[in-house]
Amino acid sequence: MDDTTVPAHFNTETDDDNIVWLHIDKAGAGTNVLGTEVLKELDRHLKEIAAQNPRGLVILSDKKKGFIAGADIEEFTRIRNKTEALELIHLGQSVFNRLAELSFPTVALIHGFCLGGGTELSLACRYRVARDDPGTRLGLPEVRLGIHPGFGGSVRLTPLVGGIKAMDLMLTGRTIDGRQAKRIGLVDVVSPERHLRSAARRLVLDAPPAHRPVLADRLSNHALVRPLLARVFRKQVAKRVSEQHYPAPYALIDVWLKHANHPTRMLEAEAQSIAGLIKGITARNLIRVFFLQEKLKELGKDSAYQPKYVHVIGAGTMGGDIAAWCALRGFHVSLQDQAPKRIAPAMQRAHKLFKRKLKRPLKITTAMDRLLPDHRGAGIERADIVIEAIFEDAEVKRSLYREIEPRMKPGAILATNTSSIPLEELSGALQQPERLVGLHFFNPVALMQLVEIVNGSSTSEEVSRKAMAFTRQIDRLPLPVTSTPGFLVNRILMPYLMEAVVLESEGTPAAIIDTAATRFGMPMGPVELADTVGLDICLHVAEILAEHFNAEVPERLKALVADGHLGKKSGRGFYTFRKGKAVKPKASTSGWNLDDITNRLILRMLNEAVCCVREGVVSDQELLDAGLVFGTGFAPFRGGPMHHIHSVGAEMLRKELENLEQLRGKRFAPDPGWETLFTSGETAE
Ligand code: NAI
Repeated sequence: MDDTTVPAHFNTETDDDNIVWLHIDKAGAGTNVLGTEVLKELDRHLKEIAAQNPRGLVILSDKKKGFIAGADIEEFTRIRNKTEALELIHLGQSVFNRLAELSFPTVALIHGFCLGGGTELSLACRYRVARDDPGTRLGLPEVRLGIHPGFGGSVRLTPLVGGIKAMDLMLTGRTIDGRQAKRIGLVDVVSPERHLRSAARRLVLDAPPAHRPVLADRLSNHALVRPLLARVFRKQVAKRVSEQHYPAPYALIDVWLKHANHPTRMLEAEAQSIAGLIKGITARNLIRVFFLQEKLKELGKDSAYQPKYVHVIGAGTMGGDIAAWCALRGFHVSLQDQAPKRIAPAMQRAHKLFKRKLKRPLKITTAMDRLLPDHRGAGIERADIVIEAIFEDAEVKRSLYREIEPRMKPGAILATNTSSIPLEELSGALQQPERLVGLHFFNPVALMQLVEIVNGSSTSEEVSRKAMAFTRQIDRLPLPVTSTPGFLVNRILMPYLMEAVVLESEGTPAAIIDTAATRFGMPMGPVELADTVGLDICLHVAEILAEHFNAEVPERLKALVADGHLGKKSGRGFYTFRKGKAVKPKASTSGWNLDDITNRLILRMLNEAVCCVREGVVSDQELLDAGLVFGTGFAPFRGGPMHHIHSVGAEMLRKELENLEQLRGKRFAPDPGWETLFTSGETAE
């Protein structure tokens, strides 16, 4: 190394077969990411290794977590203009080109995460070997950040596995394990840990021909076929996201369509396309959302807390699924309810979940072994955490707490999944009220990443910290909130849902209301969401919030519930449901002012968000945005409600609220919190 001031991110060894093993181990980091400094050092190593002309080169990672997690996203945020973006992309491309052009066999030895730039680096090697375990994940998830592969990923993946499989991976951003990667031709060998190195060595020594896809896969890149396939890809992408809000997948299709026959031109098209996308609003906001997620992860970082046993009381919709999820994530779980027959359906659901997630019979059996039906509650004594998910009734919960607390271990945490009862109403039943915390999961547990960590006035800081650490250990995102009615997510969601009900009762077709919301970028319209959550549950939460915040519950909602129309679970709500899907009557948008409808829906949500910030339900605006993006799917490309307010302009939005208040009544009265936003330091950046 000629520059000794730069910390080394690589080390090399040459073995008896004259194979160079290049270890990547980014200095001062737990994960390998490819920033400018790392890429430049890699380039210097590749030059030296090329001059050495060894028998072969194996690139591997010294990090426990995995190979390479991708490009350095932190660096993206410092890019000021297109020229700087191009500089970084061209650097990555030229380093990987150098790797691809080496005359001797090259192998990427992959374990754990191999994402984005990591996969692109591996694609520049002649062969790839992946560890055979579910924790090894390969993919090109760049579209999730509003960009697409730029270090030659699309240029090398499409000829390697064929246009259809390659574009599917890149357009969805999904990740696959080693076996799936082998099946499509992305890796050459999948091997258990103990044989990994010898598998890589064998590839170098035998130097078999590099993988070549079958004829059908090769044909999928043909100039005559591409226009046809491109149309299909665009249609598939359009079902998920619009080009206006998420331009990256569409841009990637264009790059492939125009240039797949010509690697050098395609490389440059990749670079130009990303340089255009990276400073766009969507990429900036999606990168922001990525960092919001990191922020939540950071909150659960207390690695000193190592609970092992979880006891869940209440095996209904929530408790059953929470128990299954904890067992899936490796905890020993006992599941209690009033009678064995109440636990049986939860056990069946757990089995289904394990089958879907774990696939292999041995792993499914082992997970089932970790989940014990326990109607007598024998697991309480050994539990590190007791999660209560019984009926939403404060007195029933209090009497349960009185009964179980004497049996709990000293230091064990009691977590309630209550969705509406302030913790102060429950903690009085406990000898040690400081051990009570809210762990508010969302339905369905296996899909919803967010868990609100509800801190009551007596919850100790230690218990709150442990609850956040546990939430991370079950691979969920903890959001600390105060114990105020509705906490954060339901409180902000409810005015939006209620406005949808008002609109519907005024005669706006449900499908039009939903379209107005999905056009804004919500993953599902409010009417369909209410039906999916259950109208009885919506009514219950709405009534609690109405009581505390002096709001009105629409009569239409009460009437539907009184008639037994509860939504999806009863087959009928605002919509009729067939095979679990809402049947939406065709409604033409012409004649409807969709912008007005969107405004009414979204402004009520934004107004409540401003109120929650003012009241300190969460400690800052970023946490509020994180909560709404991960708890409700609030249009991620807008970066969260508060960020959206700053982007559009707080003053203008407040004006719109004032106009609506004049027109439609006091439910639109702007919260006093808007004032502080005009002067606050938060900006749209
Ligand atoms: P559920 O009615 O499906 O299940 C409750 C279960 O608790 C029943 O199986 C019942 O037999 C059992 N149970 C009642 N008292 C018990 C006791 N003393 N000992 C043992 N088991 C007892 O209710 P769900 O929907 O699962 O709700 C549970 C909690 O989770 C509630 O506090 C609710 O507010 C909260 N929640 C519900 C959400 C939802 O979407 N359903 C979302 C988030 C929180």
